[in-house]
Amino acid sequence: MPAVPVLDHDAVLAAVSPREAIDRTREAFLRHRAGEWRMPAKVYLEAPPHGDFRAMPALGDGLAILKWISSFPGNPALDLPTVMGVLLVSDATTSEPLAVVDARSVTALRTGAVAPVAARALAREGASTVGIVGCGLHGAWTARCLAADGYGPGVCFDPRPEVAEALAAELGWRAGTREEALDADVVCCITPGREVVVDAGDLRPGQHYNMLGADGPGKAEASIDAVAACALFCDEWAQASHGGELTGAVEEGLVTRDQVTDLGAVLAGEAPGRPGAEAVTMFDSTGLAIQDLAIASAALAAWRDGRVEAATMRL
Ligand SMILES: NC(=O)c1ccc[n+]([C@@H]2O[C@H](COP(=O)([O-])OP(=O)(O)OC[C@H]3O[C@@H](n4cnc5c(N)ncnc54)[C@H](O)[C@@H]3O)[C@@H](O)[C@H]2O)c1
Repeated sequence: MPAVPVLDHDAVLAAVSPREAIDRTREAFLRHRAGEWRMPAKVYLEAPPHGDFRAMPALGDGLAILKWISSFPGNPALDLPTVMGVLLVSDATTSEPLAVVDARSVTALRTGAVAPVAARALAREGASTVGIVGCGLHGAWTARCLAADGYGPGVCFDPRPEVAEALAAELGWRAGTREEALDADVVCCITPGREVVVDAGDLRPGQHYNMLGADGPGKAEASIDAVAACALFCDEWAQASHGGELTGAVEEGLVTRDQVTDLGAVLAGEAPGRPGAEAVTMFDSTGLAIQDLAIASAALAAWRDGRVEAATMRL
């Protein structure tokens, strides 16, 4: 077996800039929409009471990947990340293993990158200000990717004021209250999804919401009334309706499949996006394996081009 590179956290972040992550993520949605990239539903493996594991395969770009990733909400108390794992890359024509990649950095980049992709497609013309609700790891990458795409200034809110202030200082934005963050043109929620942070009364005409935190069963960041009041979009219906922000409203019978548009369809020009300047749009991101494939492919290309270094190992 040839030696395979082990691309660690820092190598991935050195290999793939937020700008490239945004472009690759957009491309992933288009290729998937066109049927060129494929992805079965992710498999959840509950590990109560600590959290859950997810197995996420995808195929495209001549590669096949499997991301093995966790969501363990109690980990920060142990000084460990909530989300971590590994991503395996194989050649899709021979099945030869090609790389072992840190999944935490890939997840951070692709989760952040989808926020400007969705905002460009769905926010009203001229939208610029950003509200970040939840400034942990993925909130920070969401803010970085929005800033890299030209959005801002922003207001960062987190019950831990020090993380909101650090993120605001990094981007030249400011820390503020939840209400101030919810007053922005583009609002992004990336909390653990244990409590509602957006209610129907918080919505302002013309806003766009990216809901990123509720990516598994039992999680929600918006009230059912808030969800039902928005023009709705999702990354993938099966995931969003069973383990995403839309789940509660779907279970109550307030939202049905025909009321929710896939982001890929909007990007491909196959479905309308924002229904009008006054509408409130909401995008439910549950996180897709095709997004991981996009970033892993970019990281592998950077290593092959000699732009980043990695230790290698023989299997
Ligand atoms: N959609 C996706 O693709 C995707 C990808 C990765 C992670 N996630 C999910 O995003 C969520 C956050 O993950 P993370 O790794 O950033 O976790 P994290 O622990 O690093 O950050 C969460 C942040 O939310 C803050 N917070 C908690 N309650 C809040 C509230 N009521 N209002 C505002 N902020 C609040 C916390 O103080 C913390 O700073 C998790 O639920 C995770 O599963 C989604």
